[in-house]
Amino acid sequence: MSATRYHCIAVRSATEQYDIHLGPGVLHQVGEKIQALTAGRKAFLLSHPSLYKLYGAPVEESLRAAGFAVEACLVPEGERSKTLLSASRLFTRLARGGADRHSVMCALGGGVIGDLAGFVAATYMRGIPLVQMPTSLLAMVDSSVGGKTAVDHKLGKNLIGAFYPPRAVFTDTTLLQSLPEREYLCGLSEIVKAGAIGDVELFQFIEQHIEAIRQREDAVLTTLIERAIAVKVRVVQEDPYEKGVRAILNFGHTLGHALEAATVYSAYSHGEAVAVGMALVSILSERLGYCTPATRSRLCALIEALGLPTTYTGVPPQRLLEIMTHDKKSLNGVVRFILLKDIGDVAFHQQVPVEVLQPLLAEYA
Ligand SMILES: NC(=O)c1ccc[n+]([C@@H]2O[C@H](COP(=O)([O-])OP(=O)(O)OC[C@H]3O[C@@H](n4cnc5c(N)ncnc54)[C@H](O)[C@@H]3O)[C@@H](O)[C@H]2O)c1
Ligand SMILES: [Zn+2]
Repeated sequence: MSATRYHCIAVRSATEQYDIHLGPGVLHQVGEKIQALTAGRKAFLLSHPSLYKLYGAPVEESLRAAGFAVEACLVPEGERSKTLLSASRLFTRLARGGADRHSVMCALGGGVIGDLAGFVAATYMRGIPLVQMPTSLLAMVDSSVGGKTAVDHKLGKNLIGAFYPPRAVFTDTTLLQSLPEREYLCGLSEIVKAGAIGDVELFQFIEQHIEAIRQREDAVLTTLIERAIAVKVRVVQEDPYEKGVRAILNFGHTLGHALEAATVYSAYSHGEAVAVGMALVSILSERLGYCTPATRSRLCALIEALGLPTTYTGVPPQRLLEIMTHDKKSLNGVVRFILLKDIGDVAFHQQVPVEVLQPLLAEYA
């Protein structure tokens, strides 16, 4: 396989310095690359049993060939594994397995594995090297980048966590072939978001390659992922601790989160909820004079072309309003939104009164 098929995205900021290796088959190279990053020779590979069966062997082979002793740690699939209990069990595995400060925690999985591995790596011995090997499209473009790690608490999702950047990220696009369709769409929703908030060329590229995206063509996927990562990296570099502009990464998420919460995280996947959120916010943006009707319809058309929803059902609009106005980001019944100005350009921290939101939510229910 020729080396030119790989891309290397260098993340360099005051808080994060690492490379994202992107391309088909990149997982076969993890060993030699990780060896250069740490003096440790022990690696712990966190994954789900199904993903480990599919993709564990090449990773382990590569690590062993580079002189690492590898121990696989497997946890069940789903958000229910992102807990302090799972973390605690992993601390025990690490301690019993003789992990020291230089041992490497490798996360082979979607956002659940990435967040859990990240949290454990951030806290075990006050921090050990973390390597992300994202397997879901969402993890490739979103959760493996930006340095946020967390586990859930019964009183809140991602309530306990730390900012802890990885030492390296290995994003192997061939893994996407086995990703279930709904999970794939979930990642596409975040890629549309990346285009909408900061890269009109990426947005246009998606519009022009709908069929190839449906077919999961490798070259097209690589471009999508590379451009979407670049948007996130740029925003995170500007605002690593989420004090200002990083808020734009939540475009479509205020409404999306409310929809997920109102349906107890069952009716809508995260990506579907965000798609509805982006569509409704674009209509809101048009009504408030932030964007033109053409910009609004361009965003809604792309969401629909990908097979993602632009309207919702099964939730009373009033319930969504209640959730949004009780959210920690809302103030005195005024909800703050990221509004669309143009494709690739948004305005953040925009206050929208409930009287404007209410009729819109009722109309698109
Ligand atoms: N840290 C961050 O910045 C950040 C950002 C966004 C989301 N998140 C977190 O990410 C999590 C969601 O991540 P997710 O959407 O990847 O969900 P996930 O990790 O649960 O993965 C979704 C499903 O797809 C399966 N899967 C993953 N890759 C596969 C592949 N290549 N082939 C076949 N099956 C595969 C998984 O086993 C799982 O069942 C949430 O916990 C969320 O809070 C974190
Ligand atoms: Zn999201």
